[in-house]
Amino acid sequence: MDYKELIAEKIKEHVDLQLEEILELIEIPPKSDMGDYAFPCFKLAKVFRKAPNMISEELKGKINKDGFEKIENLGPYLNFFLDKSAVGKETIEKILSERENYGTANIGEGKKVVVEYSSPNIAKPFHVGHLFTTVIGNSLYKILSSQGYDVERINHLGDWGTQFGKLISAYKRWGNEEALQEEPIKELLRIYVKFHDEAEKDPALNDEGRMYFKKLEDGCKEETALWKRFRDLSLKEFKQIYDILGVEFDSYAGESFYNDKMDAVIEEIDKKGLLVESNGAKVVMLDDYNMPPCIVKKSDGATIYATRDLTAAIYRKKTYDFYKNIYVVGTPQALHFKQVFTTLKLMGNEWADNCKHVGFGLVKFADRKLSTRKGEVIFLDELLNEAVSKTLETINEKNPELENKEEVAKKIGIGAVMFTYLKNNRERDIVFDWKEMLNFDGETGPYVQYTYARGKSILRKLGTASEEVDYSKLNTKEEFELIKNLGGFNDAISNSIDKLEPSIVTRYIIEVAKAFNKFYNSHSIANAKDDETKMARLRMVEATCEVIKNGLGLLGIDVVEKM
Ligand code: ARG
Repeated sequence: MDYKELIAEKIKEHVDLQLEEILELIEIPPKSDMGDYAFPCFKLAKVFRKAPNMISEELKGKINKDGFEKIENLGPYLNFFLDKSAVGKETIEKILSERENYGTANIGEGKKVVVEYSSPNIAKPFHVGHLFTTVIGNSLYKILSSQGYDVERINHLGDWGTQFGKLISAYKRWGNEEALQEEPIKELLRIYVKFHDEAEKDPALNDEGRMYFKKLEDGCKEETALWKRFRDLSLKEFKQIYDILGVEFDSYAGESFYNDKMDAVIEEIDKKGLLVESNGAKVVMLDDYNMPPCIVKKSDGATIYATRDLTAAIYRKKTYDFYKNIYVVGTPQALHFKQVFTTLKLMGNEWADNCKHVGFGLVKFADRKLSTRKGEVIFLDELLNEAVSKTLETINEKNPELENKEEVAKKIGIGAVMFTYLKNNRERDIVFDWKEMLNFDGETGPYVQYTYARGKSILRKLGTASEEVDYSKLNTKEEFELIKNLGGFNDAISNSIDKLEPSIVTRYIIEVAKAFNKFYNSHSIANAKDDETKMARLRMVEATCEVIKNGLGLLGIDVVEKM
């Protein structure tokens, strides 16, 4: 039940405000001894021509108290205290009857949402920034699907551009076939870096690179075959990472996919009278929007990144008829997307308003500085392996007897990395700090997973309770806090969809785990004062585990039963 709505309806019977207005006014008091919800009466002072504290007192006398323990007035506020045992019963029974479906809804039914994420560049290492988009995109996919949206997951591979000419040239000069088979991306990176070093000494190399890209564009056989090989080998390596993370896609239509579709779009832009010549390039002027022009064709006639994005958006509208088209791409590209969306709108596409750029911050490391130009990159497989091996060390210290240690370490270590990305507002930069990230006591993945495993261990030891329990036994402050948290799952999900912000779900799970541990540290289950209390508490533990599991599932993180 939505208690806020119930309260708003009761208030509405006595005041002349819209339900929405009342809902907006209702607050959660800063302290739980001030009630569960509060309605401030300031706004009514004018209408009633009375002081707000008198209004709150009058309302208190009039409002029907069914469903509440009590309603009190405190100065200008009307404070509502929920009936704890009714809330406990309703919340826990709902969770335990819906189980893995608790939190799902069908508000998105019949609506197609395109979510583009990951989109690494072929022949380059998959770096920590790509992990950011991969994890956020995957979570948005899970969150949206849980509400019934039909999500199309697209990996817009960076598989086209002048750099492939350079790479072909470099491969012909210095490529090592064996190394390419063994570790394709490392080898491609090696020769790419070498190309840049050599080109500094001999700039003519750049012309050679351009020549090969031209051949590639013209569809020459040998160059196309090499490019395709680089693409296939890179993708194979990327897929290993996706497997480890449990991430999937419906389409890998990357930049090259739009090669034969761009001319028609450029023509359309031209027909609409938007194409302007500027220093030999063809651009769409965006002065009126305080933006630099959107370049559609470079002076050498080549198309660029933006041309492919314009074409891709139009293709996606035609193919998927989306309700929303989401791009999970780093915040440094915000201007690019604004230019693309504005150009689409100028072309007369009203649906451009449904295109959303979901940005995210930078990734830094607590213990090192990196320069990509010098080829210093963190290889993701190494990073993930480190997370797993460090977790294994902790397990070996804390619980050396644990079965399937490797399996558990994998879920916790990988989960810890994913959780780090999803914990804060996505626009914020994040600092990778192993100690913090793997801390079992902080606001971390391991902490939440540990809370789940603890709940499961309690249930294994004490057994699960039958459905018939006396929920009025759950009457302590800590129990009620936990129950209220458990009931807030759907709110957290819908807020996170509104803001396209998975961290709202992450924070929610952290709050549930904290509330559970607070309860667990202050009350005994095994030695509860009577058997009814023990049984009611066991139901609550079971419900907590279910919520943590479903919540982590929306982040793409697995739970472990023992750790
Ligand atoms: N491949 C690009 C990169 O690694 C990201 C692509 C983002 N998506 C897009 N539709 N432009 O920076």
